[in-house]
Amino acid sequence: MKKHVALVGFMGAGKTTVARSLGLPTVSTDDSVPIELFEQGEPAFREREAEVVRAALGRTEPVVVDLGGGAVTIPAVRELLRERATVVWLDVDVDTAWERVKGSARPLAQNYDDFKRRHEERRPLYAEVADAVAHDADDVALAAAGIVVERGALRRLGELVSGAAALVTDPNVNGIHGMDAQLALGSKLAETHELPAGEEAKTLSALDRLWQELRLDRGGTVVALGGGCTTDAAGFAAATYLRGVDWVPVPTSLVAQVDAAIGGKTAIDLPQGKNLVGAFHWPVCTVVDPDLLHTLPERERQEGLAEVVKTSLLTGENLHEPLDVRRCAAFKAAVCLRDPHDHGERKQLNLGHTFAHALEAAAHYEGVTHGHAVALGLKAALKLSGRDSALVDELLRPKPVRVDRERAWAAMQRDKKNVGGELRLVLLGDGGPQWDVPVPAAEARKALDELIAG
Ligand SMILES: NC(=O)c1ccc[n+]([C@@H]2O[C@H](COP(=O)([O-])OP(=O)(O)OC[C@H]3O[C@@H](n4cnc5c(N)ncnc54)[C@H](O)[C@@H]3O)[C@@H](O)[C@H]2O)c1
Ligand SMILES: [Zn+2]
Repeated sequence: MKKHVALVGFMGAGKTTVARSLGLPTVSTDDSVPIELFEQGEPAFREREAEVVRAALGRTEPVVVDLGGGAVTIPAVRELLRERATVVWLDVDVDTAWERVKGSARPLAQNYDDFKRRHEERRPLYAEVADAVAHDADDVALAAAGIVVERGALRRLGELVSGAAALVTDPNVNGIHGMDAQLALGSKLAETHELPAGEEAKTLSALDRLWQELRLDRGGTVVALGGGCTTDAAGFAAATYLRGVDWVPVPTSLVAQVDAAIGGKTAIDLPQGKNLVGAFHWPVCTVVDPDLLHTLPERERQEGLAEVVKTSLLTGENLHEPLDVRRCAAFKAAVCLRDPHDHGERKQLNLGHTFAHALEAAAHYEGVTHGHAVALGLKAALKLSGRDSALVDELLRPKPVRVDRERAWAAMQRDKKNVGGELRLVLLGDGGPQWDVPVPAAEARKALDELIAG
C-alpha cells in the first residue's frame, strides 16, 4: 500500500469535509494556494498547486492530500499521484455539487452551464488517476486502508492480487468457498495450504508446517481465506516468511469481516496466553465479500454480532439498527489508520474486552466463547460508564457464566493495559469513548462479579 492518500474530485464533492473526518494530517491545495492567484491566469495557479502536491507527497509521514478540483488537469500532478498516493475519487453528481458551491466566490462556479461542461470534462481525468471511487467518508477510509467491501468481491480476487498466490485456508472454508477462490485466482494460484480449523491454526506447530510448505518467492502473495484464526495465522506467516511477503486477507466469518482482518494485526498463541507472538503487517488489500457469510453457522454469526454491537456503542449509533459490515469495517479501518500501533485511540476497540478476557481466562478458554464474554464485558463497561445496558441484553442475551471468581479477578488484574497495578478500562463518556480510564478496584470487581453465576 502507498503511504499517502490523495482525494480528488470536482468542487463541491465534499473532499474537505471527508478529509477532516478521517482525522489524519491533511494538506489542502485550496488552503495553500490563494484563490486571488487565479486572476494572474490559470497556468500560474496550477503551477502553484503542483508545487504544493509535490511537497506534500514528498513528506515522510503519511498525509491526506485534498486536491482542488482542477489539480488533476496538470500532467505532472497525475504522474505524482500515480507514483506516490492511493488516489480516491470522491464522486458527486453535477447538481448536488452546484447546490453546494453556487453563490460562492469560486471563479469556476459562477455559471451553471460552464460548471456542468467542466464537470463532464473532468470525469475522465478523475477516473484515470483513481485507485478507488468513493461516495462518502466510509468509502474513503476503506479505500485508504486498501479494503474492498462488495458483494461478489471474491470473484474479483484475481485482479486484486499481483504475482503468484499461495492460498491459505481451513478445511471447513476450503470445502465451501475454496473452489470459488481458486477459480477467481486463476493462473495466479501457485499453491494451496490448509491450516487446522479454529484456534488450532494459531499454534507454533501449525505455523511451522505452513512455513515449511510455502514455496512463494518474495514477489508472491499469501491469500488468507477464512475466519479470524486463519487470517491471524496466515497473516503472521506472511509477516515472517522470507522476512515478510505481501498478503491479502479474504475474511469469511463475521468476526473476521468486521474485526480480525481489519487493521494489520497478526498473531499466534502461546500456551501462556492468546496472541502473545505476532506482528503488525498491513495487508496490500483486504477483500470483504458479505455474500460469503451466508454459509456461516448461526453460532459463529452470534460471535460476530458481539463485535458489531461493540462498534455501534463506540460510534454512538442507534443500537436498534445494528451496523452493517461495511460501516463496522470502515470505522475500525479509520481508527487503525490514525493509530496503527495501538498507542492511543485504537485502544477503544477493547471496549468490554478486559472483562471478556478475564472471563475467558478463568474458563481456561473452554466453554465461554469470546462473543459471549464480550457481550458480558459490554454490560460491565456500560454499567461503569453509568449507561443502561438493556439493549445489549436484548440483542445479545448474554447469561452470566460459571467460572471461578478469584481466577477471573486475578486475570483482570494482569491485563496488559493496567498501569502500576491500577486498572485502566475503556468506558463511554459523554463525548464518546475514553480509554486508559482508571477505575477503582472495588468497582471493577463488583462489575465483574455480576457477570459470574453461582
Ligand atoms: N487480528 C485482530 O485484530 C483480531 C481481532 C479480533 C479477533 N481476532 C482473532 O480472530 C479469531 C476468531 O475469529 P473467528 O471467530 O472468525 O474464528 P475462526 O477462524 O475459527 O472461524 C470460526 C469458524 O467458522 C468457520 N467458518 C468461517 N467462515 C465460514 C463460512 N463463510 N462458512 C462456514 N463456516 C465458516 C471456520 O471454519 C471456523 O470453524 C481469534 O483467534 C481472535 O483472536 C483477531
Ligand atoms: Zn473481540
